[in-house]
Amino acid sequence: MTSDPQSAAPSARPATTPADLSAVRFPDGFVWGTATASYQIEGAVAEDGRGPSIWDTFAHTPGKITGGDTGDIADDHYHRYPEDISLMADLGVSHYRFSLAWPRIQPEGRGQLNGAGVDFYSRLVDSLLERGIQPWVTLYHWDLPQPLEDAGGWPERDTAERFAEYAAVVQQRLGDRVKDWTTLNEPWCSAFLGYASGIHAPGRTDGPAALRAAHHLMLGHGLATRALREQGARDVGITVNLYPVDPATDSAADRDAARRIDGLMNRVFLDPLLRGAYPEDLLKDLSSVTDTDHVRDGDLAIINTPLDFLGVNYYTRHVVRAGTATGRPSNWVGSEDVEFVKRGIPETAMGWEIDPDGLYETLTRVWREYGPLPLYVTENGAAFDDRVEADGRVRDEARRAYLESHFAAAHRALSEGVDLRGYFVWSLMDNFEWAHGYGKRFGLVHVDFETQRRTMKDSGHWLAEITRANGL
Ligand code: FCB
Repeated sequence: MTSDPQSAAPSARPATTPADLSAVRFPDGFVWGTATASYQIEGAVAEDGRGPSIWDTFAHTPGKITGGDTGDIADDHYHRYPEDISLMADLGVSHYRFSLAWPRIQPEGRGQLNGAGVDFYSRLVDSLLERGIQPWVTLYHWDLPQPLEDAGGWPERDTAERFAEYAAVVQQRLGDRVKDWTTLNEPWCSAFLGYASGIHAPGRTDGPAALRAAHHLMLGHGLATRALREQGARDVGITVNLYPVDPATDSAADRDAARRIDGLMNRVFLDPLLRGAYPEDLLKDLSSVTDTDHVRDGDLAIINTPLDFLGVNYYTRHVVRAGTATGRPSNWVGSEDVEFVKRGIPETAMGWEIDPDGLYETLTRVWREYGPLPLYVTENGAAFDDRVEADGRVRDEARRAYLESHFAAAHRALSEGVDLRGYFVWSLMDNFEWAHGYGKRFGLVHVDFETQRRTMKDSGHWLAEITRANGL
């Protein structure tokens, strides 16, 4: 760093954005896509035999979601998917990443298939293919069938077995048309937001249960990967959310805080998946919280089943320092004393600091420490307080600038040899943003939740130029 005092201030142009953006060209065949998730967009929660998920239960529990919002109607995508596919065609994306609602397919989470649920996804896949858009299917984006939670949820080993059974039946029904499979989306959120801090469904606050959930999610991923391949799937991966974790100062205590959070956020999944072992330092950190009796011989080999790709979701960076535990339920099991520090740089409406360099660092780190393996950015995007103006336009320049700087950061990783194959923008359209409800708008398309009217935002029009040019 220089001694220039200006250098500490957020610069107008992020460091990764080259002066000449026209030099940013992506390789032929680079995948451009948008992403969504079942509970966030589908609605129709009680239609055609769908059973309840943990998110239905949670959203209907008073006090859990801002404004009492639920996913009951959401974007009504279950009925409006043809219009939504037309919007994707307008964006010029080659791929669409979406998730299947497990309780639409297996309302009980086991056994008997719900034919109408399978038919919905079959129609969706066919309609995408008719428009030349490849379906990129995530099997699990957090909507666990409620009966499985009633039987103990992810802290129980049986849930991993049930997940593999579900994966196999889905591949039997859709595998003739779906080429790309992602087992789980962001197991960190399922385990730690769901079972430790309880800010996501099922809303439990039990640190040891969260650690068991993390292991069984990974086991479920490994078992499902094997099941999908046995049924003939060829491209199978997983999506993890990764954050660079920096110490706030160079003190030994802050550096140790950063090591611990990096362990609980990133390495807890990357190491078992890509090295077949839990990090030694993490096991030591957690030894006072739980034993490892739930980790059976052979589990790590299953979790370490080779991946065809790794999906990376990136939003921001964590900066941490050693502090004092608040006593409130925390995501950071065994490290409740760590404090998260804001740097005072520009943020999105989520309060997430805008840090495109963090994407570059994340991609190059995974490549350097865990590669070589093909990578995709399976989510990146930003929430801002967008509104449709009198002339019908949504002027979301902040989102366009956010995406541009992150595309440039990804390109920089690519140009340094990282095998980055594609980029999915979160999200196609405004939707149910989990505990925040409908107040946080991430879409390239604006949705009026009263009328279900869709309006392409300026950022969407801009993305259409990017996908056409395959560059900035
Ligand atoms: C990710 C989730 C996705 C969305 C974005 C903003 O953690 O995978 O569903 O909520 O954050």
